[in-house]
Amino acid sequence: MEYRDGEALECIDCGATHEPGGNMLVCVKCGGLLEVAYPRSVFRSVSFNGRGVWRYRSLLPKVERIVTLSEGDTPLVKAERLGKYLGLKNLYVKFEGANPTGSFKDRGMTVAVSIALKFNAKSVACASTGNTSASMSAYAARAGLRSLVFLPDGYVAPGKLLQAVAHGATIVRVRGNFDDALKTLLMHREELGVYVLNSVNPYRIEGQKTIAFEIWESLKSVPDFTVYPVGNAANISSGWKGFKELVEAGLAESKPRMIGVQAEGAAPIVKACLQNRETIEPVEKPETVATAIRIGKPLSWKKALRAIRDSRGTAVAVSDREILKAQVDLARMEGLFAEPAGAASVAGLEKLSKEGFFKGDETVVAVVTGHGLKDPSINIEPYAELVIHPGENPAEALRKLS
Ligand code: F0G
Repeated sequence: MEYRDGEALECIDCGATHEPGGNMLVCVKCGGLLEVAYPRSVFRSVSFNGRGVWRYRSLLPKVERIVTLSEGDTPLVKAERLGKYLGLKNLYVKFEGANPTGSFKDRGMTVAVSIALKFNAKSVACASTGNTSASMSAYAARAGLRSLVFLPDGYVAPGKLLQAVAHGATIVRVRGNFDDALKTLLMHREELGVYVLNSVNPYRIEGQKTIAFEIWESLKSVPDFTVYPVGNAANISSGWKGFKELVEAGLAESKPRMIGVQAEGAAPIVKACLQNRETIEPVEKPETVATAIRIGKPLSWKKALRAIRDSRGTAVAVSDREILKAQVDLARMEGLFAEPAGAASVAGLEKLSKEGFFKGDETVVAVVTGHGLKDPSINIEPYAELVIHPGENPAEALRKLS
C-alpha cells in the first residue's frame, strides 16, 4: 500500500500493510502483531536535532502535536567498579530510571499519546504491572485525556500505583495477574471506547527504540551486546528495531547481540530460546519479586524471539535472590538505584559472566529500566544503622558497630 502519511502498519506475520487508525491494534487479516514501517526515502534523509526522544523525529511517526515531558536523553554510565567485579572492561549502564516518571515507558508514551491525539482519542487505557500505567497516566494528564488502568490487584509496587492515582487515572483492580488484566482490557476495549496503549500498540515501540539510537550516539559506535530485562517482551524488540534502522540508514555498520533476561518464575522466552523452539509455552502462574516483569504470556514474544535469534544473542533466567543481589551491587558499586526488574539485566550479566560467556573486552550495555524509588516495599539487606541520642558520639557508636 501507499505510505500516505509517512508510514504504514505492517504485520510481522503475513506482511500485510495497513493504513494507521485509532482501532488498529493487530493485523486485520491474520491477527499478527503490527510494526510501524517507513518508506525507504525516510532512511535516506535522516537528521537528528534537539534532545531526547524527539531528537530522532525523522525516524519516528508523523504527529501533529507532541505530548512531551522531555523524556529520553538518559545517562549512559561507564560502570567501572561493577565491570571490574564482573571481569568486563567496557561495561555501561543505560539508566532509564532517569526518565520523567522513572522508567523507560516514557519514551513510548510520548509517541503513543501524541498519536492518540492524532486519532482523536478521548480516553486511553492499559493493563500494567505498574510502570506503563504510571507513565500513561502522566502523559494522558498532560494531553487532557482520560485514563483507565487495569492492574493486577496486590502486585503493583506502591510508588507506581501512587503515580497513577496522582495523575488522575481510574484504577481497575483485576483479581488476577497481568495476563488476566491485559486479556480483560483487550476483550472490552471497543465497548469501553478507549485507545489501548499497551505495547501491542506499535507506536510505543517507536518511542522505545530511541534507547538504541542514544546508546549508539553516546558510544559513537554499536556495542557488542545489549542486555534487556524482559516482561511483555516489547522493549528488547524495540531495541533491535532501533539498531536495525541505524544500519538501514547507513549510520551504523553492525548490530549488537541482544540478551534478554527474565525472572526464573516468569521465563517463557528464556525457555523457548534455550530449547530452540519457535513458540513459547505460557507460564500460567508467574511469580517473581520483580513485579514489573511478573508476566507469563508475553504479548510480544514473537518479536523478542526473532530479535534474540537474528542477533545471535541469548536469554537467561535469574532467581529472585540474584535479582536482589544485582539491585544492591548496582546501587553500592555504581550509585544507581534500580527497581528489581530494572536490575534484572545486571543480574543476567552477573550470571553470564560467571558462566564465562564473555571474553572480557567486549562493549556491553545493560539497560536498567526503572528507578528504585518506585518500589519501597523491597527489603534491602544487609545494611548498617546507628541509633544515637543527642549528645552521643557517633564515632564511638560506629566503632562499636564494627
Ligand atoms: N523493566 C521494567 C521496570 C518494566 O516496568 C517492564 C515492563 C520491563 C522491564 C519489561 O519490558 O514488557 O517491554 O519486556 N513493564 C510493563 C508495565 C509490563 O506494565 O509496566 P517489556
